Amino acid sequence: MIGVYDSGYGGLTVLRHIRRLLPERSTCYLGDSGRAPYGGRDVHTILDFAEQAVERLFDEGCHLVVVACHTVSCVGLRHLQQRYARPDSDCRVLGVAIPAAEIATRTSRGRIGLLATETTVASGTYMTEVAKLGSHTVVSRAAGLLAPLIEEGWEDTELARDALRRYLADLPDIDTLLLGCTHYPLLHAALADVVPSEITVLDPAPFVAERLADWLRRHPGFDTIAAPPVHRMLCTGDPSRFARHGRRFLGQPLPTVEAIAEVGGRLALRRSDRTPMGQIVR
Ligand code: DGL
Repeated sequence: MIGVYDSGYGGLTVLRHIRRLLPERSTCYLGDSGRAPYGGRDVHTILDFAEQAVERLFDEGCHLVVVACHTVSCVGLRHLQQRYARPDSDCRVLGVAIPAAEIATRTSRGRIGLLATETTVASGTYMTEVAKLGSHTVVSRAAGLLAPLIEEGWEDTELARDALRRYLADLPDIDTLLLGCTHYPLLHAALADVVPSEITVLDPAPFVAERLADWLRRHPGFDTIAAPPVHRMLCTGDPSRFARHGRRFLGQPLPTVEAIAEVGGRLALRRSDRTPMGQIVR
């Protein structure tokens, strides 16, 4: 079973491509929607959350976890790999930033514009990864409003178009626009209206899925194929809300969403998904 982890709903846009390309594989998705957005959080909090999420997925039987979230991939992937994916371990953690940088440099003629969360931009990871691959320039703009707008279901509104216009004004002369956040593919209609036709809008998720398929071919021991495939869905926060909104991101109804919550520094499965009303005593 392949674990896929994101701060919330966005990674479902990556899971969508993983399931399309690898239909025989079982998956377990963990969306930390109760604690999202991660994009403006300090990096130590993000590392704590990421450790909890990855450990939950290992405990569910995943030996391979794909960190679909650009924010976590940009600030925490190396930490997660050093902690969990030592050479003698039977677990591995993969991210999205390296494949995204790879497809961006293959696509661009020289000047890549990056739209992403504040933390992703501040990390400088895309500049570093792109620089390893060639002589492209990366100009970036933190787009703090976009993920919340999309979560609200306002991705195809004038508000979204206006926000995009303002952000893009800070990315002059680019030939490729890299969508460096898993939420942004939902903006496809707004992007088609706002981005000049000579600029290629790049959702790296299909390429991330291709790189994963290639990695699995080269490392067959990290995932076994069970027939028929099982698809599980875990989230922090409200599972019925997750199922409702998640559908827009995955492009199809979600399997039963199981609730998880932090208990003593670990993400544990919750027996009841009912939100308590009024005062509670533990
Ligand atoms: N999923 C996150 C990413 O791809 C964006 C949303 C958030 O800020 O949590 O960077």
